[in-house]
Amino acid sequence: MNDLDALVAAAQADFTAASTPADLENAKAQYLGKAGRLTELLKGMAALTPDEKKSRGAAINEAKQRVEAALNARRQALAEAELQVQLKAEALDVTLPGRHRGTGGMHPITRAMERIEAIFSSMGFDVADGPEIESDWYNFTALNNPLNHPARSMQDTFYVDTKGTDGISLNLRTHTSPMQVRYALQHARRYKADMDAGHPMPDIRVIAPGRTYRVDSDATHSPMFHQVEGLWVGEGISFKDLKAVYISFLQQFFETEDMQIRFRPSYFPFTEPSAEIDMMFGSGPLKGRWLEVSGSGQVHPQVVRNMGLDPERYIGFAFGSGIDRLAMLRYGVSDLRAFFDGDLRFLSQFK
Ligand code: DAH
Repeated sequence: MNDLDALVAAAQADFTAASTPADLENAKAQYLGKAGRLTELLKGMAALTPDEKKSRGAAINEAKQRVEAALNARRQALAEAELQVQLKAEALDVTLPGRHRGTGGMHPITRAMERIEAIFSSMGFDVADGPEIESDWYNFTALNNPLNHPARSMQDTFYVDTKGTDGISLNLRTHTSPMQVRYALQHARRYKADMDAGHPMPDIRVIAPGRTYRVDSDATHSPMFHQVEGLWVGEGISFKDLKAVYISFLQQFFETEDMQIRFRPSYFPFTEPSAEIDMMFGSGPLKGRWLEVSGSGQVHPQVVRNMGLDPERYIGFAFGSGIDRLAMLRYGVSDLRAFFDGDLRFLSQFK
């Protein structure tokens, strides 16, 4: 091997040993740089004869080309390797399933509420909303609850600490019934001018769904639960209207007429007479069992008076139903707490 072949071989070995572009540039300088070995060889030709210069120059040039070729090959190999590393690092697994934005669903209680609102709206009922923090007056007194009624006890009712400044006692409403007097007073105010001009008052016909609160917690009771209040007051609205409205509601809500409904005498301070409404399915898993679905009754004359109306002229009915209970029956849910646990495995069944 002559000196040039040895030089080319050394350059090839050094280039191959360079594992980064920077190492390669350093190796290159040793051969092709200003003080590089090939450059030195070219400088050393000054002492040669013209003939020697010719053959020696051609040989050196040829060696130089081989070194340059080796350099370029290594440059490409390093760039290629770098690209591979980068591609590997940024690799996309196109076989992975796509990530979807989850589609939400309505909560079963919300769905039940919307059904209830749609059904009563179709029967001409207004839908009203009221405060969940309620005054003692609307929640109890206006509804004919005597001051010493057990429902007012700390064991049953969440009281809100008002620090005694204005003397108004507030509680988380224990039922939606306070909406009866609230709404009736709003209604009377809305039609006052008409009534002052001698026009009859349009019937009060409203449902008020919403959250209610009691100190109570087990498989069928939650401290927060939902009720829907119904109220229809006018001239000559009777118990038979209550029956017709409520039976029609249950048939629509459960989408069946295969059921029995009974009005069982009961007691509530704000209705007289009062009735508990029970229903029994004629088929399905609950067939043959009486299920309590609502309280109801004819609005008590004292409550009519608290609405600012003359009980000799205005009469009507009210009912208060547990929405959670209706939803449990409709969707076949046996533990009320499932509605409020926030477990997506349960909730996503209702999408
Ligand atoms: N407010 C009663 C309760 O929570 C339910 C009720 C009964 C409402 C009779 C009414 C009614 O409007 O007439 O237990």
